[in-house]
Amino acid sequence: MTSAVDQQIQKQWAAEAAVRYVRPDSVLGVGTGSTVNLFIEALAASGTRIEAAVSSSDASTRLLESNGITVRDLNLAGTLDLYIDGADEFDPHRRLIKGGGGALTREKIVTAASRKFVCIVDESKKVGVLGKYPLPVEVIPMARSFVARQLVAMGGQPELRQDFVTDNGNVILDVHNMDLVDPVAVEKELNNLPGVVTNGLWAIRPADVVLMATSNGVEEFS
Ligand code: 5RP
Repeated sequence: MTSAVDQQIQKQWAAEAAVRYVRPDSVLGVGTGSTVNLFIEALAASGTRIEAAVSSSDASTRLLESNGITVRDLNLAGTLDLYIDGADEFDPHRRLIKGGGGALTREKIVTAASRKFVCIVDESKKVGVLGKYPLPVEVIPMARSFVARQLVAMGGQPELRQDFVTDNGNVILDVHNMDLVDPVAVEKELNNLPGVVTNGLWAIRPADVVLMATSNGVEEFS
């Protein structure tokens, strides 16, 4: 079991490894979370100047701007070459659970708008089969109970994330014990539920590269 200090060091290493993927003067997609926060700081410290970043959350926007990095609206950016983001779990096919930080909707949009997604994680995120981490589902507030009933019918146990509103003004249901042996099928089924804005499965479009830091260094899965 990795200690909190070791996990923090691993996040730092994964973040630093991702800086090497960034092309100077490019427009870069940037995710959300503690690993991404370290990436933003490592990018600023590296001296690699990018033209702008497209941000996936208000929190990342604030950190990017405080590090002197220009943030651009996705509508003005076109297709991005590269998106860097963390994850809550990844499996051997680089499929992910994301959304622990609640930024999943904008993260999925920026993923879709990017040619390449490099995911940065510490080794605690590696699993054989997705689903130990509760699956976040962003829901329009008026549909909360309806969607919760559908999730129960699918075999999950939804729990309303307390005192949390997304950047888009919605709520999150964290779904425990969902069978994710076929994550593509579940992602599609959740996408079809009226009231669901986004679900935290990245299975239809997995990461292209996972940079996983361990106590021995950074391993690349691609
Ligand atoms: C935010 C996310 C994050 O990428 C995920 O929660 C991992 O976060 P951290 O880097 O803090 O472990 O999906 O919505």
